[in-house]
Amino acid sequence: MASTVLYIAATVLLAQSTVAFNCSTPPIYVDIHKRAVHNSPIFQYGSFIGVGTPAQNHSLWPSLSQNHTSFAGKDYCNNSTLKDCADATGGTFITSESTSFTGNDKLQSLDSGSNFTGALAQDTLHLYTHYFETDGASQTLLENSTVEVASHGNINPGIVGMGLSSTVLQDLAAQGLIAARTYSLYIGQGFDRAGGAVNGSNTFGGYDSGRFQGDVHRYAMTTSDRNPLSVKVKDIIITNTADPSSNVSLFDTSKFPSSSAPTAFDAQLTTDQYPLSLPYQITQNFISHLGAQPDNTWGDNSLKLKNAFNGTLSIVLDDGFTVTIPPEVLMNASNITPIQDRPKDSDDAPFYLSTAFLSQVYVMMDFESFSFYLAEAVQKNNAVMPITFCPKATPVAYVRPKQSAWVSQGLIGAVIGGVLGGIGIAITAYCFWVGWARKHANRRQERELEAGQRRKLRSLQMEVEDVPEFDPPPKSATPFFWKKR
Ligand SMILES: *[C@@H]1O[C@H](CO)[C@@H](O)[C@H](O)[C@H]1NC(C)=O
Ligand SMILES: *[C@@H]1O[C@H](CO)[C@@H](O)[C@H](O)[C@H]1NC(C)=O
Ligand SMILES: *[C@@H]1O[C@H](CO)[C@@H](O)[C@H](O)[C@H]1NC(C)=O
Ligand SMILES: *[C@@H]1O[C@H](CO)[C@@H](O)[C@H](O)[C@H]1NC(C)=O
Ligand SMILES: *[C@@H]1O[C@H](CO)[C@@H](O)[C@H](O)[C@H]1NC(C)=O
Ligand SMILES: *[C@@H]1O[C@H](CO)[C@@H](O)[C@H](O)[C@H]1NC(C)=O
Ligand SMILES: *[C@@H]1O[C@H](CO)[C@@H](O)[C@H](O)[C@H]1NC(C)=O
Ligand SMILES: *[C@@H]1O[C@H](CO)[C@@H](O)[C@H](O)[C@H]1NC(C)=O
Ligand SMILES: *[C@@H]1O[C@H](CO)[C@@H](O)[C@H](O)[C@H]1NC(C)=O
Ligand SMILES: *[C@@H]1O[C@H](CO)[C@@H](O)[C@H](O)[C@H]1NC(C)=O
Ligand SMILES: *[C@@H]1O[C@H](CO)[C@@H](O)[C@H](O)[C@H]1NC(C)=O
Repeated sequence: MASTVLYIAATVLLAQSTVAFNCSTPPIYVDIHKRAVHNSPIFQYGSFIGVGTPAQNHSLWPSLSQNHTSFAGKDYCNNSTLKDCADATGGTFITSESTSFTGNDKLQSLDSGSNFTGALAQDTLHLYTHYFETDGASQTLLENSTVEVASHGNINPGIVGMGLSSTVLQDLAAQGLIAARTYSLYIGQGFDRAGGAVNGSNTFGGYDSGRFQGDVHRYAMTTSDRNPLSVKVKDIIITNTADPSSNVSLFDTSKFPSSSAPTAFDAQLTTDQYPLSLPYQITQNFISHLGAQPDNTWGDNSLKLKNAFNGTLSIVLDDGFTVTIPPEVLMNASNITPIQDRPKDSDDAPFYLSTAFLSQVYVMMDFESFSFYLAEAVQKNNAVMPITFCPKATPVAYVRPKQSAWVSQGLIGAVIGGVLGGIGIAITAYCFWVGWARKHANRRQERELEAGQRRKLRSLQMEVEDVPEFDPPPKSATPFFWKKR
C-alpha cells in the first residue's frame, strides 16, 4: 500500500517535471580563459564565443544583469576612455565581414541604463566547447540570435548577457538546443585584476558538477531588480592564518566601539566590478582593523593595506553559507585588497558581492522557477562534468573518485558512468557524452578523441589529488585549457 502511494507520487512528480522540458538535452559548455580574439594581437580573458559568418572569435565577459549579448563595433575605440581600448574589448565585430548579419531597427532593447550605446541586429553565434588541450574546439551554432553592436561607450562592451531576460538563453531554449533556461557560471581568476591562473566556465542549460563541492544553497531571484541575484549578509569575519582562534567580526561593536551597530544587509551578486562594495560602517571597520588606505591602482577604488596581512575574510550569509576569501585574494603581492572604499552616507546605493566573491563561488541559475543556487567553487577541477540542469532540480556536486576507481576503469563511458552512477546521474552524463560526441565530431576525429581522452583521463587522475588551491600564473601564454606535465 505504502509503496503504491509512493509509486503514484513518484509518477506524478516525474510527469510534472517532464511535461515542458526535455531534460535529456545535453547542456552547452563554454569555457572562459585567455585566447586570441578578432582584430587584436592581445590574448583576452572571457567566454569563447564567435559571431557572424565566417566566425569572428571573441572573449566575452559574462554579465548577470545585461540581457543582450554585445560586441564592440568597428569604431568603438575612436572615442572611448576604456584603458587600452583596442585590445580590451574582447575582440572587434566587423559587421560588414559577416554574410549572416542582419540589422534590425525594429527590435526594442531589453536593457535600460546601459553603459554604452549600440544597435541591435541578428547574427549567428558560435558557442565553442574546448575541453582538451590537444583537441580542437567544437561549436554549437545559434542562428538568428539578437546581438548588440556597441558604437560608443567607456566600458568593455564584449559581454554575454545573462540577465533575467537573456536573449542567448531564450534563443537556445526556443531552438531546443538546451533543456530549459538554466545557466551556471564560474568566473575564474585567470585575468589580470585577480592575478590567478584558474579558468572559468559557462554552462548553458546545465551546470558543471565537477566545479563545486559541498552543499548547494538555494535562493529566490529578485525579479524586480536589474541584478536579480541578491543574498543577505549577516556577518563578516577576519581570521589571521597564523592564529585560527583570532576571529574578528566586522559587525562587532565591542571590537569597534565608535561604530554604529551594523545590521545584516542585502548584497547583489555582480560581475560588473572586481572589488566588493560593503556598507560604509563595515568598510570603516575593515579599514581600522587592517590598516587599509585608499588606492586606485586598478581604477576601482580597491583599498590597499599599509602592512601585509596573512589571513582570510569570511562572508556569512543569513542561511549560514560561508564564503571564505583566501589570503592570496584578500591581499595581493602589492597589498591591494578586493574591498572597495565606500563614501559616507552612500548606503542607499547597492552593496555588491562582486567578481572577487564569485572567484570562490559557483552560481547556478534557474530562470524557469526564478531561483538560484550557490556552492563553494572547486578552484582547480581537472574533471569537467557538465550535467543538464532541469528546472526545479537541485544541482548535485560530482563526488571525486578514489584513485583506485580511476585506475581500474578503462573506457571513458565506463569511467564516467561508473563514477557518476553512484550518485544517480549516470544517464544524464552518458546522454551528454553521447550527444556531444555525435554532434560535434566526425567519425575519424571521434576515434582519435576517445583514445586521447582515455590517455588524458589516466593522466588527469594523477592530478586530481593534491592540487594547490591557487595556481601560480602560467609560465607561458599557451592557449590551452589543460597543460600536460
Ligand atoms: C529529448 O532530447 C533527446 C536528446 O537530445 C532526444 O534524443 C529526444 O528525442 C528528445 N525527446 C523529445 C520527446 O523531444
Ligand atoms: C587557463 O587557460 C590558460 C590559457 O589561456 C592556460 O594557459 C592555463 O594553463 C589555464 N589554467 C589552468 C589552471 O588550467
Ligand atoms: C574612427 O576612426 C577611423 C580611423 O581613425 C576612421 O576611419 C573612422 O571614420 C572613425 N569613425 C568614426 C565614427 O568617427
Ligand atoms: C567623444 O566623447 C566625448 C565625451 O564622451 C564627447 O564630448 C565628444 O563629443 C565625443 N566626440 C565624438 C567625435 O564623438
Ligand atoms: C534585463 O531585463 C530585466 C527584465 O526581464 C530587467 O529587470 C533588467 O533591468 C534588464 N537589464 C538591464 C541591464 O536593463
Ligand atoms: C575561431 O575559433 C575556432 C575554434 O577554435 C577556429 O576553428 C577558427 O579557426 C577560429 N577563427 C579564426 C578566424 O581564428
Ligand atoms: C534564420 O533566419 C533565416 C532567414 O530569415 C531563415 O532562413 C532560417 O531558417 C532561420 N534559422 C533559424 C534556426 O531560425
Ligand atoms: C597586485 O596588484 C598589482 C597592481 O599594483 C599588480 O601589478 C600585481 O601583479 C598584482 N599581484 C598579484 C600577485 O596579483
Ligand atoms: C600565511 O600563513 C600560513 C600559515 O601560517 C603559511 O603557511 C603561509 O606561507 C603564509 N603566507 C604568506 C604569504 O606569508
Ligand atoms: C572563525 O570563523 C570561521 C569563519 O566563519 C569559522 O569557520 C571558524 O570556526 C571560526 N573560528 C572560531 C575559533 O570561532
Ligand atoms: C553600468 O552603470 C551602472 C549604473 O548606471 C552601474 O551600476 C554598473 O556598475 C555599470 N557597469 C559597468 C560594467 O561599469
